[in-house]
Amino acid sequence: MRDTVSPSARASVSAMQRLLVTGGAGFIGSNFVRWLMANTDVSVVVLDKLTYAGNEDSLSDLPADRVQLVVGDICDAELVDSLVADTDAIVHFAAESHNDNSLNDPWPFVQTNIVGTYTLLQAARKHDTRIHHISTDEVYGDLELDDPDKFDESTPYNPSSPYSSSKGASDLLVRAWVRSFGVKATISNCSNNYGPYQHIEKFIPRQITNVLSGLRPKLYGTGENVRDWIHVDDHNSAVWTILNHGVIGETYLIGADGEKNNKEVIESILGLLGQPTDAYDLVTDRPGHDMRYAIDSSKLRAELGWKPKYRNFTEGLMATIDWYKANDSWWRPAKEATEAKYAKTGQ
Ligand code: NAD
Ligand code: DAU
Repeated sequence: MRDTVSPSARASVSAMQRLLVTGGAGFIGSNFVRWLMANTDVSVVVLDKLTYAGNEDSLSDLPADRVQLVVGDICDAELVDSLVADTDAIVHFAAESHNDNSLNDPWPFVQTNIVGTYTLLQAARKHDTRIHHISTDEVYGDLELDDPDKFDESTPYNPSSPYSSSKGASDLLVRAWVRSFGVKATISNCSNNYGPYQHIEKFIPRQITNVLSGLRPKLYGTGENVRDWIHVDDHNSAVWTILNHGVIGETYLIGADGEKNNKEVIESILGLLGQPTDAYDLVTDRPGHDMRYAIDSSKLRAELGWKPKYRNFTEGLMATIDWYKANDSWWRPAKEATEAKYAKTGQ
């Protein structure tokens, strides 16, 4: 991306006392707020619509004098304007995030991911507010299993699903608002996150909670598809690094060299839960299913000095399993409806 603001125009940590975190009741956003409480002194206003994917309980134990939840829509220009007027920086996580849902009903993805990002950009422009936009490696499409290359910041956009194309569109809006209006934005594109507080529609928590519910895990297609797993806290430490030290107008890829195929992951989950590792079902594949994602994060590491902390996937997975075991009341209410939705597509 071309710089329109001097590379020295970096936001400083001390300038940020009050952040607006969109989607802060979702998986990564709530972990980000939690990470901020543990590692910084900032206060946070969370703007979240509390869709099926948002959960107030993900924030309920955080200090009330530092975390405020505003229930509302990022497409509501008046609300967004009033919140941005009173913030030092915006960290924009809010999105419709699940590929399978986007294949069944794309409209909410267009509305939230594109119109919502537009609405935030207009407010950031009006109030000259720093904004960091959270995006995904899926904007780059997929790689062959034997491709020696990984995605980097110069990989052309080639999204496959309504979800990834709506995220790609939102990234392009951000780039245009930087170039044409001087908005102080950065973008990050991260690979697959795992950790606590992830909605049980997603691969890893779906399989863990299936086993905990006496259901068999479900593997799409043949399970050869590769995802590049990163612990959610590593994603969030990278976001904080970029927010504070990133060069305005730049894109950074976030990844932790965690490539694994889905079959390996499902077998690990079964093994760690004391089950036979072949006790899963092969189910209908996802239409247009991306084969492989892999991130080259050397720009972020070399230029901003970031590195991941979680190096052992099995340990991180075990801790995630323990979290779901200990937090039955957080996920159980959504289990039946989630599985009923999958049953309609034979998944
Ligand atoms: P999530 O679905 O768990 O959370 C999304 C949150 O956004 C929810 O709390 C939801 O209520 C809220 N939201 C949805 N529509 C809204 C609207 N119109 N207004 C306000 N709030 C709204 O998603 P996640 O997995 O935490 O992903 C967060 C961000 O990170 C997304 O932008 C996603 O594209 C990106 N991302 C996710 C991953 C991953 O592995 N999960 C990887 C890379 C990037
Ligand atoms: O790469 C980043 C992306 O990772 C994010 O942008 C998305 O928001 C996030 O949902 C995730 O997308 P995926 O489509 O890769 O994640 P999901 O958890 O849906 O699926 C991971 C892999 O597991 C994928 O290859 C499909 C497969 N899968 C999924 C489910 C739910 C199964 O085999 N069985 C399942 O039950």
